[in-house]
Amino acid sequence: MSIVKDMSLAECGRRKIAWVRDFMPALSGIEERFEREKPFAGLRVTVSVHLEAKTANLGLVLQKGGAEVRLTGSNPLSTQDDVAAGLASMGVETFGIHGVGPEEYEAHLAEALSHRPHLIVDDGGDLVHLLGGSHAHLGGNLLGGCEETTTGILRLRAREREGILPCPMMAVNDAKAKHYYDNKYGTGQSVWDAIMHTTNLIVAGKTVVVAGYGWCGQGVALRAKGMGADVVVCEVDPFKALDATMQGFRVMKMDDAARIGDVFVTVTGCKGVITPAHFAGMKHNALLCNAGHFDCEVDVAGLAAMAVKRELRRENIEGYILPDGRVLNVIGEGRLVNLAAGNGHPAEIMDMSFAVQALALEWLVRHGGGLEKRVYNVPDEIDDQIGRVKLAALGLSIDALTSEQVEYLNGWKA
Ligand SMILES: NC(=O)c1ccc[n+]([C@@H]2O[C@H](COP(=O)([O-])OP(=O)(O)OC[C@H]3O[C@@H](n4cnc5c(N)ncnc54)[C@H](O)[C@@H]3O)[C@@H](O)[C@H]2O)c1
Repeated sequence: MSIVKDMSLAECGRRKIAWVRDFMPALSGIEERFEREKPFAGLRVTVSVHLEAKTANLGLVLQKGGAEVRLTGSNPLSTQDDVAAGLASMGVETFGIHGVGPEEYEAHLAEALSHRPHLIVDDGGDLVHLLGGSHAHLGGNLLGGCEETTTGILRLRAREREGILPCPMMAVNDAKAKHYYDNKYGTGQSVWDAIMHTTNLIVAGKTVVVAGYGWCGQGVALRAKGMGADVVVCEVDPFKALDATMQGFRVMKMDDAARIGDVFVTVTGCKGVITPAHFAGMKHNALLCNAGHFDCEVDVAGLAAMAVKRELRRENIEGYILPDGRVLNVIGEGRLVNLAAGNGHPAEIMDMSFAVQALALEWLVRHGGGLEKRVYNVPDEIDDQIGRVKLAALGLSIDALTSEQVEYLNGWKA
């Protein structure tokens, strides 16, 4: 039986789910086919992805494909209680309550796994962590799984190197139809959406420091520039740093950026990016947030240790008052700001990411049993298929190579 906060919120949740379904055409096309072909008939699927409306839609699509779906969140702060109730009311067993502590969160993950799934969808590696350790006994039926995000895939590859993957895993994040759009344009928009509505402050004219100029950081920096911010990039990779320079951004060390920034966004997937040494030199009322997967990029515990007082300044904004009177503001506890203090990526973006998830799961079923415990890339055909469906949904058509052109591109004689 589902574990959600309050079933009386179900109607509101169902409305949110209905809204996003109207803007996820690639997934709707897949749903129609799944409903006819039932690729997951007789299979159990556990999904652990931010429990909000777009994820709920993925759960429903898999259910239409014949799966028995259990769905839980991947971060208690991004769980939306109304969506959880709405989804539970639509027959998907749902486990998640907004804001619960680590033990309850893990209990929800374990509950979602307790039907002994054949397939899993993970976001950041929490399901794999349980199935590779304390809950290994629930993994006996596993055909494989999919991982949604960059950080999760880094961990899967580390497990692969040590030979301790619990099952074959698809690197969904690395598909073009995912990271080109989700990480860049999804994060780029939803991070600013969250910061702006949480703070009710202007971006134009502010100095915005973006730490990490990977796929996500490029989107965050691009949109900040578009809104009139003076953007500074901090990087550890010389090529990414050069790229940022050529896009017109200032590049410097965090030691220097810390002193001039008005807004800080970390999105590196690394830890300890902004530390007490940086807090010491920051401006009064600087805003700090993180868009990387885990809440270890901004050292919030270190900031708390420096502060003489801490107060709630607005919903989702904690002010840390330092001994000299300066206040540093942390949005969403230093967790993924666009989910902890926002609604996540736009529906049209998650349409593509979850289309990859749905087709990658189907691919795993087709290869069921025959795969090694490795990390697999999503096949190019899946990427191409989603790209074409998405273009068609936008009413766009593109040129096709002639056979002469194909020959020219693949040969050396001409
Ligand atoms: N907020 C979201 O909705 C969302 C969406 C997708 C991915 N993510 C997460 O965001 C993070 C980044 O993902 P990505 O796809 O951009 O990864 P990426 O590998 O493309 O980029 C990360 C960048 O950070 C840089 N970096 C690493 N350590 C650094 C440090 N200490 N200081 C400065 N720069 C550093 C790297 O050189 C790299 O250029 C991951 O944790 C990922 O899981 C979040």
